[in-house]
Amino acid sequence: MTLRRVNVVILVLIAVAFLIIVHRNLINLNDFLRREGSDSAHVGLPHESEFDIEAPRKFEVARVGREIPVVITAVEERLGALIAAMNSIYSNSKSNIVFHIVTMNDTVDHLKAWLSKTALKAVKYKMLPFDSRILEGKVSKNPQETEAVKSLTFARFYLPVFVPDAEKAIYMDDDVIVQGDIEELYNTPLKAGHAAAFSDDCDSTAAKGIVRGAGSQKNYIGFLDFKKESIRKLGMRANTCSFNPGVFVANLTEWKQQNITKQLEKWMELNVVEHLYSRTLAGSITTPPLLIVFYKQHSSIDPMWHVRHLGLVGAGNRYSSQFIKAAKLLHWNGHYKPWGRASAFSEIWDKWYLPDPMGNFHPIRRHTED
Ligand SMILES: *[C@@H]1O[C@H](CO)[C@@H](O)[C@H](O)[C@H]1NC(C)=O
Ligand SMILES: *[C@@H]1O[C@H](CO)[C@@H](O)[C@H](O)[C@H]1NC(C)=O
Ligand SMILES: *[C@@H]1O[C@H](CO)[C@@H](O)[C@H](O)[C@H]1NC(C)=O
Repeated sequence: MTLRRVNVVILVLIAVAFLIIVHRNLINLNDFLRREGSDSAHVGLPHESEFDIEAPRKFEVARVGREIPVVITAVEERLGALIAAMNSIYSNSKSNIVFHIVTMNDTVDHLKAWLSKTALKAVKYKMLPFDSRILEGKVSKNPQETEAVKSLTFARFYLPVFVPDAEKAIYMDDDVIVQGDIEELYNTPLKAGHAAAFSDDCDSTAAKGIVRGAGSQKNYIGFLDFKKESIRKLGMRANTCSFNPGVFVANLTEWKQQNITKQLEKWMELNVVEHLYSRTLAGSITTPPLLIVFYKQHSSIDPMWHVRHLGLVGAGNRYSSQFIKAAKLLHWNGHYKPWGRASAFSEIWDKWYLPDPMGNFHPIRRHTED
């Protein structure tokens, strides 16, 4: 008798619990639907053709206000690098970023398809073709035969061509991941008369990853041949701290006033004839002319905004994971790229990479399951 009554009570309790659960789920669903609705109303995606099943992103808000031009190059063979970099920049900021993507004509269609079929379909971008004929007489090899990656590395010399209307712009290499809000980097103050701000190689934070040997120069003498008359005549101190031009903020008004592009071209041309760069130069071939033109004429960016040398041997031992986590920008300069076979901290890069819908690009991993 009492046993049966207990059974009934248990049944009723179970039924009530069941109803509560169903009700709560309905409320969640309702919330979810409402959120989805308002999201798309606010975002106003320009080409929202497909249903996006991805989780709502952190900053899916209307991006209005001052535009932040970010100049970055797209190289066909490493297009995945650009995608991961863009995704990290875009996802960690709610500012009005406009990517200025400098690329070769035959990369445009692939890149457009990649962007439009992924979570990056709402980003604002401009595709800017790079004509390598501009490098004629300025690099030793015939520029049309030079690999795209080498030609495009000079795109940074022509910033005002690619960003004609803005006063300020950011340039960054494609082998970076941004973990901070790009607006912070954009707000880097530039001193009067300075056309750019770079990260100095002697800065203790930046220098942390420097190893002795190839690719580790941190003074002007590592980049320029001070035995050459044209260099000596400049009267620069050979032990002056160099800077890394993989990330910089530019004042384009100053850049144009000082004819920075013309000055850089002049040194490129002179180098073809006189071989002015250091013979042990292992770093970027764009560095030497920039070092000359910006000698004691540049501002500095916060070292945490350019944590580099992640592509050098042993980078994984030099940086603690806490330090890497705190960094605002990570740069895999050096031989070992995070989409390659053996690179330090590639798991961070993986988080931002979006697979190629065309299936052309694949990160190389130690254990690929094909
Ligand atoms: C790239 O394509 C545009 C438009 O089709 C063309 O005007 C331009 O000359 C091309 N540039 C190069 C370097 O081939
Ligand atoms: C850029 O340089 C110009 C010319 O010197 C100066 O008037 C302007 O304030 C600078 N802008 C920024 C954002 O530093
Ligand atoms: C930059 O070039 C223009 C035109 O060629 C010239 O008038 C001006 O004096 C140059 N400025 C500097 C700082 O060299």
